[in-house]
Amino acid sequence: MAQAGKYTRVAIAFHWLIAALIVANVVLIWSTTLVADDTIRPLIDTHKSIGITVLGLAAMRLLWRMANPPPPLPPSYPGWERWAAHAAHLLLYVVIFCLPLTGWLHDSAWKDAATHPMRLFGLFPWPRIGWVMGVEPDAKERLHDLFGLMHTSIAYVLYALFVVHVAGALKHQLVDKEPELQRMLP
Ligand code: HEM
Repeated sequence: MAQAGKYTRVAIAFHWLIAALIVANVVLIWSTTLVADDTIRPLIDTHKSIGITVLGLAAMRLLWRMANPPPPLPPSYPGWERWAAHAAHLLLYVVIFCLPLTGWLHDSAWKDAATHPMRLFGLFPWPRIGWVMGVEPDAKERLHDLFGLMHTSIAYVLYALFVVHVAGALKHQLVDKEPELQRMLP
């Protein structure tokens, strides 16, 4: 049960867990440019596993949100800020789903996917997307490039949204002196 003006404990746990996994996944994939060649493959495999975990958590988070609507924004926020906050949150949800989905599509269109089965955290097999794997090789190569471009572009949208999201929260906390962060803290 949520207190007035606060997210539920479950929503708070989803928020920080997903945020931490996304940061870890970005750091992990960037670090592939710094490590020796034989270390890159395990890093990318872990990146895929964390990404699939984020996708599953995002689905559970959305279901939870539908059953447990978030607390209303404080009445002191002007109309344009309410609109901007809702738009940023909606776009963040779109990105949290589309980033892992395009990664999964990109990986499924990889020409070596069939000979390099994916295992979630090395523990058990994880499927590729069947219709993508079944496409004929030339078209699959083009799909691989397209999904890779989408994955990278959506990551840049994520970075921009992250800045807007944190700036908005800090503005409410520090300038408007509203207990904004407390809404998303246990
Ligand atoms: C939390 C979800 C995810 C985030 C935040 C994320 C983020 C990123 C970023 C920032 C890059 C580098 C893009 C660039 O070149 O600038 C990348 C690359 C990549 N991602 Fe993801 N990703 C996620 C999920 C996934 C998933 C679920 C898969 C596959 C199952 C995946 C597969 C890949 C692959 C194969 C690359 C290219 C690696 C390479 O060969 O350089 N990603 N991702």
